[in-house]
Amino acid sequence: MLNLILLGPPGAGKGTQAKRLQDRYGILQISTGDMLRAEVAAGSEVGREAKAVMESGALVSDDIIIRMLGNRIGQPDAAKGFILDGFPRTVPQAQALDRLLAGKGLKLDAVIELRVDDAALVERIAGRFTCARCGAGYHDSFKPPRVAGVCDVCGATEFSRRADDKRETVHARLDAYNRQTAPILPHYAAQGSLRSLDGMADIEAVARQIDAVLDGLRA
Ligand code: AP5
Repeated sequence: MLNLILLGPPGAGKGTQAKRLQDRYGILQISTGDMLRAEVAAGSEVGREAKAVMESGALVSDDIIIRMLGNRIGQPDAAKGFILDGFPRTVPQAQALDRLLAGKGLKLDAVIELRVDDAALVERIAGRFTCARCGAGYHDSFKPPRVAGVCDVCGATEFSRRADDKRETVHARLDAYNRQTAPILPHYAAQGSLRSLDGMADIEAVARQIDAVLDGLRA
């Protein structure tokens, strides 16, 4: 069983690496951003509350997020381990996670931080798109589909871009990261679980760095 956190600013590659880890190690990716987007698409009460906040680039309230995450971690498909992608994002969320894990007798194996320069983040986010049918992720320059306009995974030809991936919103998201999320790094450094990696490397090179961390945990 492996319980991991992938931390980093918007566009750092958390989702890209979490999906790969899920496929490779059979541990569940839990993305609070994906969960919120599903709530928005479903038009639920949480979704209605979160929509405008997300489109502004700010963070959704801790109460909503902590409740949502607590429910998700308790489900059977998380029993073999999980990769938290986009959570925790504030000091109260990190403290709530500590309590949640302690209550379930679970521990964190590693907190992996992906470090990327701001200019690269804006470029990554502005070029990002996903398959509208299966959700596979792509990038105009760094990860285009093998055949232009056709999803590698499912063959669909419709793609979508996120409402919060506009350049002006990206700056607000970066600001939220620096002000509200970066302060949780010392929390994990003090616990001895923080591993900071070079997220500027290409996707495969970042994946190799993460695999080296995980190999080290098993050694
Ligand atoms: P969320 O969905 O979590 O978005 P985010 O943290 O802003 O991160 P992204 O999904 O934009 O980036 P990523 O790091 O996953 O990068 P990716 O792999 O896609 O949150 C969205 C919103 O929801 C928040 O703003 C907030 O409002 C709300 N929210 C969510 N969780 C919350 C919480 N816990 N508390 C409060 N509010 C919350 O990569 C980006 C692109 O770059 C892709 O195109 C990819 O192909 C490419 N790429 C990836 N790696 C590399 C590489 N190494 N080199 C070159 N290109 C790369």
